[in-house]
Amino acid sequence: MPRISLWTASCFLALLPAIVLGDEPGGELAAPSGLRCEYLVDPLGIDEQAPRLSWEPVDPRRGAQQTAYRVIVADDPAALEVDEGNLWDSGIVRSAQTCQVVYAGQPLPSRSCAWWKVRTWDQDDQPSPWSAPARWSMGLLDAADWDAQWIGDASPPPEGMEPLPPPLLRKAFTVADVAGIRRAVVYVTALGLYELRLNGARVGDHQLAPEWTDYRRRVQVQCYDVTAALREGDNALGVQLADGWYAGRIGLSQIVPGGPPRGIYGRRPCLRLALEIERADGRERVVSDGSWRMTAEGPLRVADLLDGEIYDAQRELPGWDSPGFDDASWPRARLVPDAGVQIVAQPNEPIRITRELKPVALTEPRPGTYVFDLGQNFAGWCRLRVSGPRGQTVTLRHAEVLNPDGTLYTANLRSAAATDRYTLSGEGLETYEPRFTYHGFRYVEVTGLSAAPGPEAITGCVVHSAAPEAGTFECSDPLLNRLWQNIQWTQRANMHSTPTDCPQRDERLGWMGDILAFAQTGCYQLDMAAFFTKWIPDVRDAQAEDGRYPDFAPHPFDPDARFSGVPAWGDAGVFVPWCQYLNYADTRVLEQHFESACRWIDWIHDNNPDLLWKNKRHNDYGDWLNADTLKLDGWPTQGAAMPKEVFATAFFARSTQIVAHMAGVLGRAADARRYGDLAEQIRQAFCRAYVEPDGRIAGDTQAGYAIALQFGLLPMEMRQPAARRMVDCFARYNGQISTGFHSTVCLMTQLTAHGYLDEAYRLITNRRMPSWGYAIDQGATTIWERWDGYVAGRGFQDPGMNSLAHYALGSVGEWMMGTIIGIQPELEVPGYQHFVICPRPGGELTWARGAYHSISGLIECAWRIEGQRLKLDVTVPPNTRATAYLPTTDGESARESGRDLDAAPGVKRISCDEDGVRCELAAGRYAFDLDWRPAGD
Ligand code: BGC
Repeated sequence: MPRISLWTASCFLALLPAIVLGDEPGGELAAPSGLRCEYLVDPLGIDEQAPRLSWEPVDPRRGAQQTAYRVIVADDPAALEVDEGNLWDSGIVRSAQTCQVVYAGQPLPSRSCAWWKVRTWDQDDQPSPWSAPARWSMGLLDAADWDAQWIGDASPPPEGMEPLPPPLLRKAFTVADVAGIRRAVVYVTALGLYELRLNGARVGDHQLAPEWTDYRRRVQVQCYDVTAALREGDNALGVQLADGWYAGRIGLSQIVPGGPPRGIYGRRPCLRLALEIERADGRERVVSDGSWRMTAEGPLRVADLLDGEIYDAQRELPGWDSPGFDDASWPRARLVPDAGVQIVAQPNEPIRITRELKPVALTEPRPGTYVFDLGQNFAGWCRLRVSGPRGQTVTLRHAEVLNPDGTLYTANLRSAAATDRYTLSGEGLETYEPRFTYHGFRYVEVTGLSAAPGPEAITGCVVHSAAPEAGTFECSDPLLNRLWQNIQWTQRANMHSTPTDCPQRDERLGWMGDILAFAQTGCYQLDMAAFFTKWIPDVRDAQAEDGRYPDFAPHPFDPDARFSGVPAWGDAGVFVPWCQYLNYADTRVLEQHFESACRWIDWIHDNNPDLLWKNKRHNDYGDWLNADTLKLDGWPTQGAAMPKEVFATAFFARSTQIVAHMAGVLGRAADARRYGDLAEQIRQAFCRAYVEPDGRIAGDTQAGYAIALQFGLLPMEMRQPAARRMVDCFARYNGQISTGFHSTVCLMTQLTAHGYLDEAYRLITNRRMPSWGYAIDQGATTIWERWDGYVAGRGFQDPGMNSLAHYALGSVGEWMMGTIIGIQPELEVPGYQHFVICPRPGGELTWARGAYHSISGLIECAWRIEGQRLKLDVTVPPNTRATAYLPTTDGESARESGRDLDAAPGVKRISCDEDGVRCELAAGRYAFDLDWRPAGD
């Protein structure tokens, strides 16, 4: 990790050696692609008034550079077509910037639409064609734009805490002269969850909208274009509300003294909606108000995120969401007082169904009990297709694993019922799909059928925040390929607008320590830019008055009272924004977050003036689930855990260092000095208190050395001895890993950095307990919470805490992409405009290939060993450059596309030693051919 200086990117790039290009044939500059606004493709209803634009230059030539760009933005597509940027014409800007280009045109009022395109100029000052047009629109920016009311059932909820039937709301209206409509847009939000329907059809494909924020402060609004769905004459809007995070059960509420088991934010969901029909001469509006009709007598009887749905198809109200339905018997909706919650646009990709899974097996472990195996542990729900007599109830229960007798193992769900019940209408083939719950499962048990089902009765719907896939990984070892897939599936299972710990049990909170460990892996796997843009404000919302960051965000309880201020959990409030900056060159997140990050550091400092984090560590989880927690005969129960004070002080030092770097990026010189000095003092205090002159770190654990090295806490002369001790620590564990959530990826990285690559490969390909390989051999399709989640012969770990889909130990994905494939961010130049290629072939691997779709373009790296040669293919995207470390024992014989390196266009040799050749690469595709003799030959 970080070797950061406070150089700016441009200063860094200016210092890079000049690269001779020569006359490399092939390809030409094409129109830029991949246009995004605020990280999203064509977003509607944003509220960022200075949105940031990005694109990817398209130019396959070596050395392709963007030397200038021109963006034009128009308020209608016809103007854009004739190159009239009536909102903004950037002019020709001499710049290589392709992301985070801030719109600087006319102010963008509420509801305005912007169409945009871009062209670029290459190194020869030749222009590209214009890109295809892209667009965004603004939402309702002022509270005054909303004359819609909050509506719902405003009557006092009944005594007790039983779930209440989720209401349906309906509004009939007429539209004349549909042909004259310029645009019709719905802005809709709920305290709770909503599904919106218009004229009998669902609007949009968002699931679990408006998603989870701290509803006491902020709620997100979604915007849908419904122009094509309106009809001449009678129309109808229908909304199904449900409890969701607002009124339903939330994990851990059961352990909060006096806390309600549900309804943490409120007991009854409510709706706010504005349909705006725009014409040349004005605007018509249909808004949520007291004229809407409402009923709690619909088919959906219960909907809870943790427990599941109860749906009675006998109660369906055909046509309720279409014109012509007689709603006279429905009472009028009531106005719900506006509690002043702020309505904000949704900045992240919506939760969607991203893929469907077919069963791979169907068994009947007991008569009439059918178990479908979907072949993959995931988060979402099942679509059921069955027929049967009216009034019969089909029950779907979900589980991650089976008991030996083939029945569901549900003990690790704790109190989450994860059960959906569907009562048949009796009308032929019926399809039911829950929409206001989600489960973490691989197996679904179906009971209550009158006849044996076929596999087509169940389809698994994979549901999560739909961040685009960013990274791919493949190599000659199927175990590692499965591991990469398991990491990605675990990430998908834990992205439901917040980064959660697990999707199956009654918890599912945005645990900060877990995402701190996983954030870089998460960025390699999926594009997290928009997701973190949404979540980082959740972290600020949950910051306690005194500056403590929460243990999880959103924080549905009271962060001033509990679950805040924990080392390596609270520190995610510093690490994750920094990760967002490094990966996406996002300086805005630093601007918005800096003060908050300072408050966290200042709080630790105020309480620990001697710079060792001894006081106020609150729940003090430490290096969670390290190998002291393993339950195995003969396995030591002490000696793996880094002492908590040492662990905490290391995080205090590292977070302070990061805050100093943030200040440097923001040009806040005094803060950079202040926090830089403080970080150095903490580092020295750490060494004085916990590091012996011979390099022994208090506790003498694998974890302790790994974290101290990773965070740069040791003086230079002690680093190699510390790494040696780290390796010596393996002896007590029979050569096995003993690290926890936070130290695991540090261990892999520091082994690699200090000459122990073979050890790192041994660990990642190990199949003995504890290891990633062991879990895979037991059939894991996701990452387990614990190294010993299940042990053959012993069985499952403590069901009170044994999720089989927890991503923290999957943080090794960062090492897989950074070391096996060799793609790494360059810390001085965020956003991959300059990056590092450093593949380290090892173990028994004979080939590996991978790619990472960075914000600056698609980076690829593939290697294969052929006898005594290593073939290495690299793609450096147009307008970027890379420092490549070519692993070879004989730098002199290195070739690129058959040429000596010094004659290869785009390659500049910098240095050469026994580890290989270091060179600078211009944009382009390269085929290196290197001498290769593995160690020991
Ligand atoms: C969660 C963890 C979390 C932890 C705090 C657990 O219940 O599942 O992943 O970080 O609590 O120690």
